[in-house]
Amino acid sequence: MTRLDAILKRAIDGAVLTEDELEFMLRLEDPAACRELFAAAYLVKCREVGKGVYLRGLVETSNLCTRNCLYCGIRKGNAEVRRYELDLDEIVAGAKLAADFGYGAAVLQGGERSDARFVEFVTEAVRRIGELPNAPQLTLSFGEQTLETYRKWRTAGAVRYLLRIETSDPGLYAELHPEGTLEGRKAALFRLREAGFQVGTGVMIGLPHQSAAMLARDVEFFRTSDADMIGMGPWIPHHRTPLGIAHPGSRAEDLRRLELGLRMIAVTRLQLKDVNIAATTALQSISPADGRERGLLAGANVIMPNVGGLEHRADYTLYDGKAGMDENAEAARRKLDGSLAGIGEFVHYGVPGTPRHYLKRTGKTE
Ligand code: 5AD
Repeated sequence: MTRLDAILKRAIDGAVLTEDELEFMLRLEDPAACRELFAAAYLVKCREVGKGVYLRGLVETSNLCTRNCLYCGIRKGNAEVRRYELDLDEIVAGAKLAADFGYGAAVLQGGERSDARFVEFVTEAVRRIGELPNAPQLTLSFGEQTLETYRKWRTAGAVRYLLRIETSDPGLYAELHPEGTLEGRKAALFRLREAGFQVGTGVMIGLPHQSAAMLARDVEFFRTSDADMIGMGPWIPHHRTPLGIAHPGSRAEDLRRLELGLRMIAVTRLQLKDVNIAATTALQSISPADGRERGLLAGANVIMPNVGGLEHRADYTLYDGKAGMDENAEAARRKLDGSLAGIGEFVHYGVPGTPRHYLKRTGKTE
């Protein structure tokens, strides 16, 4: 038995793997070994959360942002961005479209702001969506906020929240984020739990100065912080950001980051087992034909198709070459059904897809 066989067997049998073992798998390059890793992760996914994909219709509500993260295309310092804010009707229409499509859930995501007007606006959007006859479950993703704000949004009816840790490495975190601290970010994740949210986190994969050991520690962070959902994808350079200018990258590097991203999904599935894991747009952006599908076959079980209008798509460019720029919600949906059938997967329509991990830790039944 090879070392990989032994590790995979332990994972399938339910063991918690060591950081060394996680790192070993993240470093695999041999295609046959990677296939074995992905197959084991797919098996654990099917056993722990079932076959099939849960959809969350994504509404990108605004690209106004108070932060200056070095990798992000909509950072405050990027003066080339045409800034926009959807109004309440547009946001509700996006959520309604998600519900009408049978996506059990919707996500409102936007740049980070915490002024009183913004907090009220999001509260109102959540309330209005909750009044829809077929209201989808709602996830929010608006960065770090006070406990009071998180409670307000939870009380208004949102049930999940995504806040990526981005990297759990203190040095790398500080390098990339002129504002905020890693400890502050961890505290925000803790506040989300306190406010009663199902909590999602995640990282970018293949960042400059990021090692496989750091990624192994990220997976351990996901596990020890008891996350319910994980969303992560390859870092992709954006030409108007300090990080993208310093490391413009190449197609070959993109492809390496895609492969590393897929291994990261597989390793996370093997270690965390019953969480929801997203196959993200960044995977699709590097490989439009099969990036998300490969994510699913490596252990992911959630996809977040964009349900917003096309008018502002190009203004929400977090990285270069972002997928779906000229594809409306209806076209995206048709394509997805087809491509999932092609890999023997399918969509669970009309159900919210609450993470098993959350149900187990709370004793709830949906
Ligand atoms: N490449 C990949 N992902 C990015 N994000 C922001 N900028 C980039 C980039 N250049 C991710 C961050 C953030 C999420 C909304 O998008 O992880 O949390």
